[in-house]
Amino acid sequence: MKKVLVVGSLNMDMVLSVDHHPVPGETIIGDGITYHPGGKGANQAYAVGKLGGDVRIIGCVGWDNNGMILTENLAQAGVDTTAINRMPEAPTGMAIIDVDKKGDNSIIVISGANACLTPDLLRKQKASVEWSDFIMTQLETPIDTVLELARMAKKADKCMILDPSPARADLPDELFPLIDIMKPNEKELSILTGMPTETDEEIKAAADALLEKGVSKVVVTLGARGAMLADGNEKLFFEAKPVVPVDTTAAGAAFTAAMVNGLAQEMGMIQAIRMANGVASIVVTRHGAQASIPDRDEIDDLIWNY
Ligand code: RIB
Repeated sequence: MKKVLVVGSLNMDMVLSVDHHPVPGETIIGDGITYHPGGKGANQAYAVGKLGGDVRIIGCVGWDNNGMILTENLAQAGVDTTAINRMPEAPTGMAIIDVDKKGDNSIIVISGANACLTPDLLRKQKASVEWSDFIMTQLETPIDTVLELARMAKKADKCMILDPSPARADLPDELFPLIDIMKPNEKELSILTGMPTETDEEIKAAADALLEKGVSKVVVTLGARGAMLADGNEKLFFEAKPVVPVDTTAAGAAFTAAMVNGLAQEMGMIQAIRMANGVASIVVTRHGAQASIPDRDEIDDLIWNY
């Protein structure tokens, strides 16, 4: 089994259940608050651990209770947490998440200690980069660190996967050719490229724009419709199993993690994407971020079916 390194954010999620998302100036009465371990980086690492992968995370938490809870939760899923840095100068990151009756969310992240993951601190953890075969990251940690990680990954000949979330239009040009697999959803694809992504043809054209910038493969998640792979030779669509969603939080991270875990377990790209679609379709039927991720036993039938 190959090794997976996740570099990224850890947040405590404060989840508010609401009938609908308030518009500016509107006050609404929520249905309740729950707290769940989250953070786009931690969600990916947790998912790889739960799915039986060999995974380590580099990230930063505060010297506080939330930091301990998040670290312990990852360790319980089998994640190597020895490269998590506890920073006395900042609190653990937090996310405030509204989940509406349809399961759709809106998220505000307060970075806290995640902003302490500087390129300097990352360089001190070079041994973890060398230890790994696959490296996954997202955009909830400083962009200079993401770029430095991609440079280190290229130099060490590792497979670099970027989940460009939260998406931004100002990614440095140098980053794109350093990415082996980029996994935006269709909204993120539009923000990254400045192109519309309403129709399949528009999605294909926007994926081509990322390939032209130097990314080797683009996998676009399409919500209930599944996913599309664009690798320069062809574009393949993968249908998702129809389910009734209750909370889409962490579906993207679980998809990326399941895909990379599949590759780390010697699956081909097509099989890994089918597996990822299956895992994401389970995640959206459950509440919470890490709490919604299935374990290896639950997905055994997915493995045999694909
Ligand atoms: O993608 C879901 C995640 O985004 C949440 O867990 C929250 O912490 C934010 O990082």
